[in-house]
Amino acid sequence: MPVTLNQYLFELKQKGLIDHQLSRLLDAVANLSKEIREKVTLGALGGVLGLAGTENVQGEDQKKLDVLSNEIFVKGVQWTGSLAGMASEEMDHALPVSKEYPRGKYLIAFDPLDGSSNIDINAPIGTIFSISKAPEGEITDESFLIPGREQVAAGYVMYSPQTIMTFSVGKGVVMFTFNPATGQYLLTNEKVSVPVSTAEFAINMSNLRHWATPVRNYVRDLLKGADGPIGKNYNMRWVAAMVAEVHRVLTRGGIFMYPWDNRQPERPGKLRLLYEANPMAFLSEQAGAQATNGTQRILDLQPEKLHQRVAVFLGAKEEVERVKQYVEKAK
Ligand code: F6P
Ligand code: MN
Repeated sequence: MPVTLNQYLFELKQKGLIDHQLSRLLDAVANLSKEIREKVTLGALGGVLGLAGTENVQGEDQKKLDVLSNEIFVKGVQWTGSLAGMASEEMDHALPVSKEYPRGKYLIAFDPLDGSSNIDINAPIGTIFSISKAPEGEITDESFLIPGREQVAAGYVMYSPQTIMTFSVGKGVVMFTFNPATGQYLLTNEKVSVPVSTAEFAINMSNLRHWATPVRNYVRDLLKGADGPIGKNYNMRWVAAMVAEVHRVLTRGGIFMYPWDNRQPERPGKLRLLYEANPMAFLSEQAGAQATNGTQRILDLQPEKLHQRVAVFLGAKEEVERVKQYVEKAK
């Protein structure tokens, strides 16, 4: 009989690895993900495809499902008594938990629906979340500026042929697969581990001409395959949803990259530090992989802004080390 998420959380609590508030929060995330999954799965039948007609704080068009998923997320976690505040890709500012609910000890930062450009083409998308201890006092944007290494839990739910919830409470990474027949999440991988070496990379190649020289040189050398300086043939994948790329890295290895590019030079990268890079870096390290912005460990970066962006190179240790060497050599 496979272990249910409820049972698993109960056991973590029994072992003293998580407290009651964290257990309830993870359970709430699992429950709300079922609701998002339902909307996502209905697609055109639910009238949820297309644009919402609004922009988020980052100037990106919001899809109806982005807005809806954000509402479902907020509603799904705010009552738990586990939270002091929330921050989301789809909300300009941090949202303290409403006075009608008890204040808890945690903060949650989330991307309610990652990979939005995949929504309308029925390709993989997901929900990413990062949980940290809340500081005392009033919750503002600044309350969320905590380095990623201090996360107490992080994870994602991927909506694809299967719906999978992956998370870590700092003791390795586990995956639960949703069974729509029973409405339960069941443990399907209890020790996620990323191989040290890989021959698979993921990067949006159409941007090659815009990258910094060391990244361009690294990817050009990957493309040279067995005859080039790295001496092996690589395969490439690009799903265009970070959740799906990281899921692939966690299940069969690889490296995923979203580097800085010169079209918006003041922007360190495309992905957001607090609710994309940090939770994924936490999962990566917990599964034996690495995550860097090219020069620094992602989890050691001191966030300066709520919606701060960052360059990301994440995955197999040997490959991430190689990228760092290309960057180092160019200094
Ligand atoms: O959240 C940003 C995001 O959707 C990621 O999930 C994904 O990795 C990336 O953008 C895709 O970007 P691109 O448009 O370059 O394929
Ligand atoms: Mn995203």
